[in-house]
Amino acid sequence: MTFFQQVVCLECGHTMSADINLKACTHCNSQWLDARYDYAAVSEQWPAALLNRDRSLWRYRELLPLSEPDPEISMGEGFTSLTRLYTYERMFEHEHIYAKDERQGPTSSFKDRQAALSVMAMRRAGITECVLASTGNAGAAYAAYCARAGIKLWLFLTSQVSSEKMREAALYGAEVVKVSGTYDETKHVAAEFAKRKGIHLDRGAKAIPGKESMKTLAFEIAEQLAGKLGADSTGRWCAPDWYIQAVSGGIGPLGVWKGFQELLEMGMIDKMPKLGVIQAAGCAPMVNAFQAGKAEADPVTPKTLITVLATGDPGYSYVVLREAVLSNGGTMLAIEDGKTFEAMRRLASKAGFSVEPATAVAFAGLERMLTEGIIAPHESVVVNCSGHTFTAESHILGDQYVLDLQLGESATPEHSHVEGLDAAIRKLDEQVTSILIVDDNPADRRLIRRLLQRYKRYRIYEAGGGIEALRMIQDRKPDFIISDLTMPEMDGFTLLEKLKNDPETADIPVVVVSAKTITTQDAKVLEEYTESIWTKGGFDTRQLVDHVVQALGHTPRVDTTEMQPANLNTLTDSRPETKVKTPVVIIEDNPQDLRLARRLLESEDKYRIFEASSGRAGLKAVHEHHPELIILDLMLPEMDGFAVLEALQHDERLREIPVLVLSAKELTLQEQNFLQPYGTAVIRKGALDRKEFLYVVHNLLKVEG
Ligand SMILES: Cc1ncc(COP(=O)(O)O)c(C=O)c1O
Ligand SMILES: [Zn+2]
Repeated sequence: MTFFQQVVCLECGHTMSADINLKACTHCNSQWLDARYDYAAVSEQWPAALLNRDRSLWRYRELLPLSEPDPEISMGEGFTSLTRLYTYERMFEHEHIYAKDERQGPTSSFKDRQAALSVMAMRRAGITECVLASTGNAGAAYAAYCARAGIKLWLFLTSQVSSEKMREAALYGAEVVKVSGTYDETKHVAAEFAKRKGIHLDRGAKAIPGKESMKTLAFEIAEQLAGKLGADSTGRWCAPDWYIQAVSGGIGPLGVWKGFQELLEMGMIDKMPKLGVIQAAGCAPMVNAFQAGKAEADPVTPKTLITVLATGDPGYSYVVLREAVLSNGGTMLAIEDGKTFEAMRRLASKAGFSVEPATAVAFAGLERMLTEGIIAPHESVVVNCSGHTFTAESHILGDQYVLDLQLGESATPEHSHVEGLDAAIRKLDEQVTSILIVDDNPADRRLIRRLLQRYKRYRIYEAGGGIEALRMIQDRKPDFIISDLTMPEMDGFTLLEKLKNDPETADIPVVVVSAKTITTQDAKVLEEYTESIWTKGGFDTRQLVDHVVQALGHTPRVDTTEMQPANLNTLTDSRPETKVKTPVVIIEDNPQDLRLARRLLESEDKYRIFEASSGRAGLKAVHEHHPELIILDLMLPEMDGFAVLEALQHDERLREIPVLVLSAKELTLQEQNFLQPYGTAVIRKGALDRKEFLYVVHNLLKVEG
């Protein structure tokens, strides 16, 4: 059981009842709340009560705000090894250097502790969606735990976070939003997004589960160190002389400090450790303020390669940590990135510890403190050693695993920052709109997809049948569904019925596109379930797409000449790497040119190429393979390129396929005028340059308009 007794406001001292989900002081509205326990009662039970407990952070449940782990969510977090680094010690002529090996956590960082408690508290409060801003590791940890809890995570990361980490979070099913801005801006956008959408925002170090979870690092260190150094006869534990950690927002050391304070209050240890707060020199607001003797930290714009430590504005965390450092003789130090990378290599080669740069910052700090004599030879040191992350290969996730939010894009000098943010969030709203197209005919799906992608930055999912669709709908909860009726295995009627009978999916609007003649009986059923019904062949797909765009509350875009060569410079390829190959048909009668075009495409290993050497064969190939791009020669036997283009116009499903025209000569004005409405790009064969060619191909294949 827990001895959680009350919550105290750190800013005004007001006391409140013990509620893990309290958000702000009921007296002064401060968000800095602190959980307090019945320490006298706990010290009567500890350490004896712990003897036969699990080796996880839950062994300290009396001092946690949740009395027991949620068995469906817990992954046995905590109780990582405390490992002595002998070789490293000898190198620095020191004894008693220990790594608290947080790489052993479920996602390889100490943030697993925080994620475990926070996610369990969320689930207990009935929260089903959560917004979190992170520099990477908390993101991975929350993503994993949210996956177990069935909580949808909106994870806001800065664009500097490595794609491996983004993919890791996406693999766990988080909705990853990549923000081109600083971490502090990212936090701001995340908070604003959460507010507008009414989604729970994780408040990190301010929230009760955050700091409380990090306390367990202190408990474990004291208990484990007592085991290593030999507990004294009273059974007391042992605080190290130093606790060192790389610091960004500061939740780690804040929690650890509190943990040691509680142990001291209970008489479990006889001293507090000195805190070593280490920051990357390119983002060291705490160190700057500390060295200048300031009570508050001035925000900085991060200029460091160590993106995990990129909190430029630490706010109140600094005030608390400064107090902790000053009260007990600790220190704050900044380390240049170059020194960090040297320390990283040394730690791996001498101690067998492969760590990520953020942890190497702490070790570089340790090295400096050892060589400068800040740490005395007899003093014991524990360093928080957090992880490295596995990489999820890109082809597992496809091409839409990240939402890209460019803050700077719309913030022109005339616009205030707030307007820029507003525009960015509105854009995000579009980006997070998802549409599922259900159709067993891939060509029909692709046509709708292509039209939708031209209009908006929607995220489009496709399903080839009812069963697959149902699974995707339950998984991704799309905002809109466009569904065919006649499909193998599970038809549209059954699918609709299942959707409408499930309260979680009943409200998703569905339009039905059907090739089948609809009987009055059918119509009656459908009327109840659908938003509108469209009969294949009876309308232009553009109308359908306009309708969907409107139904989603957006404005259909007037079609532009975006595919024309004149505009190519302004477009960039936004399609991330994917191993799903894009079908391309090349229609070219000159074998040499054909080979060249093929070779240029093949240099990228992402196209499935079909060839045709006449206009007629080309059309046949297009009908057969429904390519995403056609490369078309103009001078062809039987039926020339112009005629091919005209023929494509007659088929709605082929009309939208982008065409790259290869021309042997300069086009006449008349020819140019002819090509104009087709929105083709033209490249002169004589000037065929690999880079330019691929650039044009990328632009034509561009997934959004
Ligand atoms: C490995 C590592 N070290 C240090 C930090 C900084 O932690 P804090 O948020 O406690 O300042 C992080 C934060 O993500 C981290 O992942
Ligand atoms: Zn208060």
